[in-house]
Amino acid sequence: MGTDNAQRPRLVVLASGRGSNLQAILDACGQGQLDAEVAAVVSNQPQAECLQRARDAAVTACCIDHRNYAIREQFDAALLQQVVEFQPDLVLLAGFMRILTPVFVEPLVGRLMNIHPSLLPHYPGLHTHQRALDAGDSATGATVHFVTTELDGGPPVLHARVPILSGDNAHDLARRVLHKEHIIYPIAAAWFIQGRLHMTNSGVTLDGHQIPANGLQYSG
Ligand code: GRF
Repeated sequence: MGTDNAQRPRLVVLASGRGSNLQAILDACGQGQLDAEVAAVVSNQPQAECLQRARDAAVTACCIDHRNYAIREQFDAALLQQVVEFQPDLVLLAGFMRILTPVFVEPLVGRLMNIHPSLLPHYPGLHTHQRALDAGDSATGATVHFVTTELDGGPPVLHARVPILSGDNAHDLARRVLHKEHIIYPIAAAWFIQGRLHMTNSGVTLDGHQIPANGLQYSG
């Protein structure tokens, strides 16, 4: 870490489980692909693997257990207060498995992003891979998007397509999509940190140009 981090833009990552996307962000910061520091990782699950990943990287790991709050908005207010204390330039949801209300989202709109395992606007919510299979789709993927108060409904920034092959099951798709998630989330976060990416009233701009409504396509 060192004193350099005092100058670097600050990320706060919210996660509930395994934290492989968190790890991709940590690695991108460590390798200089993302010129930022993860100031803190906040989870709602005290035993989550993501918290251990944070500790292993000497990053502040903190838990706000949603079970201690009777009302969703109270949890969101406590979560917001904690996140704001870390003074983030950008807040990244990375497998944060709680629906967030406007209490949390509205103060952070424009500097709050999420990664979702589908080609949004298709399949917001859960069980995205099975739903894509059930629909007979020929491709699925992952999308990084700005977060608004609509669940998985904020404007897309960057997506990666994954072909659905005959014989694929949901587990196969999850594995191949996750690989793409780990690539596109650091790219989109870096654009934001570099000041190139903005959410405006009429959509998302990159380098001053409006991007397509379903986001840019990663073609690596
Ligand atoms: C990812 O598939 C992400 O798209 C979704 O939840 C999963 C989290 O995985 N929102 P991980 O905890 O980052 O490994």
